[in-house]
Amino acid sequence: MKQLFNSLAIGLAALLSSACEPAAPPTDYDTSLDMKQLMRHVLEPASDVVWDSAGYVVDSEGEHSLAPTTDEAWAAVKAAGAMIVESGNVLMLPGRAADADWVEFSRALSTVGHKVMAAADAQDDDAVFEHGATLYSVCVACHQIHAPGL
Ligand code: HEC
Repeated sequence: MKQLFNSLAIGLAALLSSACEPAAPPTDYDTSLDMKQLMRHVLEPASDVVWDSAGYVVDSEGEHSLAPTTDEAWAAVKAAGAMIVESGNVLMLPGRAADADWVEFSRALSTVGHKVMAAADAQDDDAVFEHGATLYSVCVACHQIHAPGL
């Protein structure tokens, strides 16, 4: 009986030590959304808030500024900026980051997201417009390399 326990203990120890040396480190991240879902449901809606909050539209009644006119609307721009900051991180999660330039574009998203947040704090629609243009150029730059044809 003692013999059996000993061999069981050895077997268990072997099992545990092999379980402690996994080939890939375990993560708690849920990366089940694919890149299209991440783009369509996370990054694009946040970016649209920025792009729809600066500049002008022209209709039959003339030119209208898109700049927010309420504190609530400015808060939505700030929240969008924060979502863009975090989207940059999310794009770099293990299994998502493709290569060095991917990481660079993801960091650029976070940088511009912070600028959008600051512009929203200052309620500066010219700055939102400018950072919106930079944001767009980051999307295009990554797509040119990693999603050609978009
Ligand atoms: C770090 C790289 C990277 C950045 C930055 C990036 N994208 Fe993408 N995006 C991709 C890749 C890769 C795909 C292609 C996914 C696929 O087809 O599987 C894609 C696809 C898309 C799609 C198409 C999704 C679909 O349903 O087919 C949209 C929309 C999109 N991106 C929006 C954006 C916007 C808006 C930005 C900037 C605010 C942006 N992306 C920035 C990598 C990036």
